[in-house]
Amino acid sequence: MSPFPLRALPLGMRLSLTALVVVLLGGYAASGLHMVDHHGPRDGKEGLTTTDIEGVYHGVLSPSPLRTALEEGHPGDAHPVPQEERDALLAWLGSGRIVEDWDNLDLGDMVPADLLDVNCLSCHSRGAEPDLKAEPMLEYLDDVRAVAFDNEVAPTDLKLLLASTHAHSLSLFTVALGAVLLLWGTRFGRGLVSGISLLISVGLLLDLVSWWLAREMAGWVTGIMIGGAAHAGGVGLAGLLVLLDLWLPRKGD
Ligand code: HEC
Repeated sequence: MSPFPLRALPLGMRLSLTALVVVLLGGYAASGLHMVDHHGPRDGKEGLTTTDIEGVYHGVLSPSPLRTALEEGHPGDAHPVPQEERDALLAWLGSGRIVEDWDNLDLGDMVPADLLDVNCLSCHSRGAEPDLKAEPMLEYLDDVRAVAFDNEVAPTDLKLLLASTHAHSLSLFTVALGAVLLLWGTRFGRGLVSGISLLISVGLLLDLVSWWLAREMAGWVTGIMIGGAAHAGGVGLAGLLVLLDLWLPRKGD
């Protein structure tokens, strides 16, 4: 027997708990939509993906567009780049001396600025024919510098993460406690009730802890996904069971 039988509460109490549970479920639905909306577009793929979450909590590395283009065989067979020159450009990009060696004459026939000039500037320069002209410009060192490096996108600022942890842990503690206590007051099997309570509470703990661990170790992004899903799913289930218990007649009613 549950210690706090919701179904036995007076009508006014049952109505007010119903309203509160609807507010709770609406709030979770809204925050789910907000996450998809706010973080979803980050990686350019539809919906909320692990990469989106990783971008927020761990940061992402976006590779140098110049190196990527060369590795992928750009600009293609119509404008072939001799393999030796392509290799020399890639070696330069990986050398750690991108700025120093850009026009280093000691490199003889393989000066990067000259290789870019011969192979690329017919399209990637300010003076290129209008129908060939393409971004990015590769004429000057500043042009090259902008696309030659891997770019590290830092995760959310530490102060913001701290503020967010503070706000979420205090408010979600209250919400989770409310959901667990209400669930305890339903008629459903104690095993089911305990299981859902564990999803709600351990899921929340895992989610919040993973926010912090994911900064250093990208693997914890999985903890954010699993913890968040378990917590939100548990609250959703608890809300439904509470509504059912409030309004379904019991044996003997
Ligand atoms: C015949 C013209 C032409 C030549 C020559 C050419 N490109 Fe391009 N390049 C383009 C066009 C058009 C685009 C944009 C569309 C695309 O990505 O194919 C582009 C895109 C790029 C991009 C951007 C890719 C991205 O991620 O947005 C880079 C970097 C690049 N080129 C580098 C080079 C380098 C390095 C060379 C010389 C080895 C070169 N290109 C030679 C036409 C050219």
